[in-house]
Amino acid sequence: LMHVRELLNGKKQSALLGGGRLRIEAQHKKGKLAARERLEILCDPGTFVEFDMYMEHTCRDFGMDKETIPSDSVVTGRGEINGKVVFLFSQDFTVYGGSLSSVHAKKICKVMDKAMTVGAPIIGLNDSGGARIQEGVESLAGYADIFQRNVLASGVIPQISLVMGPCAGGAVYSPALTDFTFMVKDTSYLFITGPNVVQSVTNERVTQEDLGGSKTHTCISGVAHRAFANDIEALLNLRNFMSYLPSSNRDSPPIIEPSDPHTREVPCLDTIIPVESTEAYDMSEVILGVVDNREFFEIMPTYAKNIIVGFGRLNGRSIGIVANQPKVAAGCLDINSSVKGARFVRFCDAFNIPIVTFVDVPGFLPGTSQEYGGIIRHGAKLLYAYAEATTPKITVITRKAYGGAYDVMASKHLRGDCNYAWPTAEIAVMGAKGAVSILYRGQKDVAKYEAEYAEKFGNPLPAAKRGFVDDILEPRMTRIRLCQDLVVLSTKKLENPWRKHGNIPL
Ligand code: COA
Repeated sequence: LMHVRELLNGKKQSALLGGGRLRIEAQHKKGKLAARERLEILCDPGTFVEFDMYMEHTCRDFGMDKETIPSDSVVTGRGEINGKVVFLFSQDFTVYGGSLSSVHAKKICKVMDKAMTVGAPIIGLNDSGGARIQEGVESLAGYADIFQRNVLASGVIPQISLVMGPCAGGAVYSPALTDFTFMVKDTSYLFITGPNVVQSVTNERVTQEDLGGSKTHTCISGVAHRAFANDIEALLNLRNFMSYLPSSNRDSPPIIEPSDPHTREVPCLDTIIPVESTEAYDMSEVILGVVDNREFFEIMPTYAKNIIVGFGRLNGRSIGIVANQPKVAAGCLDINSSVKGARFVRFCDAFNIPIVTFVDVPGFLPGTSQEYGGIIRHGAKLLYAYAEATTPKITVITRKAYGGAYDVMASKHLRGDCNYAWPTAEIAVMGAKGAVSILYRGQKDVAKYEAEYAEKFGNPLPAAKRGFVDDILEPRMTRIRLCQDLVVLSTKKLENPWRKHGNIPL
């Protein structure tokens, strides 16, 4: 027995050291933490329980049989974040560059399966040189086993990827399939082929950072949802982020002890809408004014900034927020903002998180570049997402709600539960200028007609008369009303007709 104890202890020590002190130091020198250090920061203290520490790779080629490291290149297990169970894997770059062996894949699949069985989120910390080259097709099979699980878990449990190092080739598709992909600035990158392959195929010269760094993916491609300054920042933000999510689609969205009175009026909102209808204002001020303690976890803050999406709370209850941003491109809907909004709405709906929508939209962005890019197909995604959503939907029209975009933005007609307008709302087919130029083409007295049109449609009454908005709210009262509505809607029951799955325009 003593012998076995000693043997186990030796294996454990070896596992804990991963690729050895030198490689851990090299990781630190790059500003990166080691795999287990990351898990310690992410989980509540003392809650991480490791699985499969004694698993070893099975490769016998290229002299690999002489070099096995217990637990191989990934650390897996369960832990708690803010007191709630999560399953985790953390790739260990110090062991064969975190590359994916078949054993590495099996360990990940095991925690994914456990997360699915009990209904808990799965979080992956990615830091890997890709497929374990020595294992060849075994490694590719391992990736596919993970992808298949990612897809089956989609909409069942929240799946989050935090990319903290290289992630290249086939490896990128697991983060891409998960609900949220976060990155660490300067030390992480995602691409399907590295700069050398790019140059040989397309003749482009590009650095690793420009090709697949955090700036590229959070500002240009929209592949990643947020980037953080370093490992610690990223892990602490991830802890905060998890507080907004339920554990699974069978769980109710979280409610925390409220710390901001639900009876709080927000007087500054009464004067936030400029007198001139064409003048911009910052919609994030509306969001911050309404939510608890001005706390808003924004998703994709640097991509398609004409729409704002993210998580907040009202009287302690998690909500997803979607809002047009009049400060950027007048808050119009275009290809990127439609896709950004649609994916967020679908996440919230899959996990029963109520959606609060603030509307100030002049319409879809016109032009050949949008039409050629398929704005019709992409705009339809947002429409589809809102229309299929059965989670509570509350909408506040702060100013413009023009044309088809009015319909799309969680209107009453798409089964909105509570639809409000502020007194400044203008709900119409288009603005006064455009309308008059069509209705009174070639006529004089344009100014008179414009004033008439604005008088008739530049207010919320025509919509309110028809029941398309339920009430006209004083802006300062918005928070109070929304907090009440969320309680009422917490027992909402609505189901879509049975189908294998819908066919959202992709
Ligand atoms: N398979 C097996 N071992 C790998 C590996 C892989 N895919 N990727 C990296 N490693 C090993 C390296 O051999 C090295 O081993 P060592 O410490 O014993 O010398 C260790 O991991 C660290 O890699 P290194 O290249 O020194 O690190 P780096 O930070 O300079 O570069 C990468 C990191 C990811 C850019 C580089 O390792 C790389 O290009 N890897 C291959 C990527 C790839 O094409 N993967 C297949 C695509 S699916």
